[in-house]
Amino acid sequence: RPLALGIDIGGTNTKYGIVNRRGEIVTKGSMPTTGHATAHEYVNALRDQLQPLIDEAGHGNITGVGIGAPNGNFFTGEIAFAPNLPWRGVIPLAKMLNEALHLPCTLTNDANAATIGEMMYGAAKGMNDFVLVTLGTGLGSGFVANGKLIYGHDGFAGELGHLIAVRDGRMCGCGRRGCLETYCSATGIVLTAKEWLAQRNDATVLREHAGHLTSHMIHEAAEQGDAFALELFEFTGKILGQTLADVMVITSPEAFIFFGGLARAGELLLAPTRRHMENNMLNVFKNKVAFILSALPDADAAILGASALVW
Ligand code: BGC
Ligand code: NA
Ligand code: ZN
Repeated sequence: RPLALGIDIGGTNTKYGIVNRRGEIVTKGSMPTTGHATAHEYVNALRDQLQPLIDEAGHGNITGVGIGAPNGNFFTGEIAFAPNLPWRGVIPLAKMLNEALHLPCTLTNDANAATIGEMMYGAAKGMNDFVLVTLGTGLGSGFVANGKLIYGHDGFAGELGHLIAVRDGRMCGCGRRGCLETYCSATGIVLTAKEWLAQRNDATVLREHAGHLTSHMIHEAAEQGDAFALELFEFTGKILGQTLADVMVITSPEAFIFFGGLARAGELLLAPTRRHMENNMLNVFKNKVAFILSALPDADAAILGASALVW
């Protein structure tokens, strides 16, 4: 059975691909994650998309299905209390999809899937100790230590987005305050911009877009030298850098690999992040850790990683 199906469930879109043993995506597609009344209807819609691809490849040629999802748990195959997905509570997604497709289904956290993708096919090939950080709608992470992805006792290890970065800070979708993702994700930087626009009078090109601001607009404004946008990256990089300095003491990674929409801002974000990380770092760790931008196209690392769960 030479093929696997990889699925990356995001807050907005679900992307999928049929992948061969060499890690080549032979066909891919996507559909909206939102707009389905229940998780069951979502699974039915996903089956309607996937079934023709499976039939075309030959059901017997597909070993199984790997799924990456926010708040996904590898041990249970469930998605539990995902603040950035449309369904509340615990969703036994692997089981539901298995019943719909009649193929073995394995699920893990979306950032963990991207981490596996980077280990097998991307920037982390041959690395034993690194942390992948996804900066998208949420902030996710995958921790690899001693060559192994860390799942922890219950399968939820590596939820870096919900490390408290600012005591009594912004409300997070998880119900707590000040989580890293409320400041340092694509959503977080937009929240900061909106707060500042309401409180301050800076002249900035972003002011006219205040109602429909995206992290991409902030990125573009910063590239044009907009001082307000540059300050947003400085502030966001400060919080991220201080947190990464703390992360160093836990697993001593050789690299941080950045992935996701906001990471596309590159040095605009990474330069202040690195500076604040180094300034806050325990001496023994200073000037050692590498910053690497994922070289795999965004969805691909997650699709590849999800498909790799099958092997
Ligand atoms: C979730 C993580 C997920 C991340 C990125 C966070 O809100 O808790 O499980 O990896 O967003 O999607
Ligand atoms: Na994770
Ligand atoms: Zn949180």
